[in-house]
Amino acid sequence: MKRLAIALFAAALAGAVAAQQPIVIKFSHVVAPDTPKGRATEYFKKIAEERTKGRVKIEIYPNSQLFKDAEELEALQLGSVQMLAPTVSKFGPMGVREFEVFDLPYLFDSYDDVHKVTDGPIGRALMAKLEPKGIVGLAYWDNGFKPMSANRALHKPEDAKGLKMRIQSSKVLDAQMRALGAIPQVMALSEVYQGLQTGVIDGTENVVSNFYTQKMYEVQKYLTITDHGYIGYAVIVNKKFWEGLPPDIRTTLEGAMKDATRFADDGAKKENADALEAVRKTGKTQVIVLSPEEKRAWKKALVKVHAEMAGRIGRDLVEAIYKETGFDPKKL
Ligand code: LMR
Repeated sequence: MKRLAIALFAAALAGAVAAQQPIVIKFSHVVAPDTPKGRATEYFKKIAEERTKGRVKIEIYPNSQLFKDAEELEALQLGSVQMLAPTVSKFGPMGVREFEVFDLPYLFDSYDDVHKVTDGPIGRALMAKLEPKGIVGLAYWDNGFKPMSANRALHKPEDAKGLKMRIQSSKVLDAQMRALGAIPQVMALSEVYQGLQTGVIDGTENVVSNFYTQKMYEVQKYLTITDHGYIGYAVIVNKKFWEGLPPDIRTTLEGAMKDATRFADDGAKKENADALEAVRKTGKTQVIVLSPEEKRAWKKALVKVHAEMAGRIGRDLVEAIYKETGFDPKKL
């Protein structure tokens, strides 16, 4: 009898202790903390921990500390980490190629255009395609529009001919570089600086906040403001973990994610503008601002990627986004 009482007491104690343990969320990403994604992740941590009164603890691992680009999605599916915010360009290799629609050159003229997709049924339908992969999509976060950089001045699209250009793991970005006569090279973000330094690659494309915080200005002489593509993020969570959370915690985290999304989107544009000023101040990279005629030449050179890749992405999806944003490839 006494032994049973002790066992019951021990079990109750263990239960109480476990209940005291915070739920830990490992949030891994590949960029620096002082970037739109880095700051938004920190903000999410702050408000999520406050609002759950410490019942949730968010551990952030920036700069590919835990996992590089290609590894992080698998780690999420395995439950080695609970949350990620990869770019929307990174879902092709896991078979959700529809997300590569975001990589179509000059598809979006503005953040408002992007939000017509991410804040609507198209954005939700894309996230739902992740569920069969054991992933739940929580939100879209903005970053910005990409310039192109190299150690050769890129004024005209043909100036990129023959250059080895680093891209993310997207077939649409691959087609984009080939449309310029360049040689696309998929590489993890954490390897880009060294790749440029050693000449394994000649150039790349990335938002200025990444170009600056990855110190690419030390290894790139020119940065051309082409605005040819958009980088944004899908904030995702391991489905089993998410559905296993106490409902009140999940609701609180959903609220915190909403506010972190507003924080991310409100800050992204300015952060990239500040980073561009910082790049200029280094005096190491010459910033090339294209004239309207020059930009039109880039649009004309890259529009063919839309027709070439529509089959892979899904024609209906591409048409639906054209309708939503008013994009017309014939008008470029
Ligand atoms: C990249 O590989 O360039 C991106 O992952 C960067 C980012 O902002 O996540």
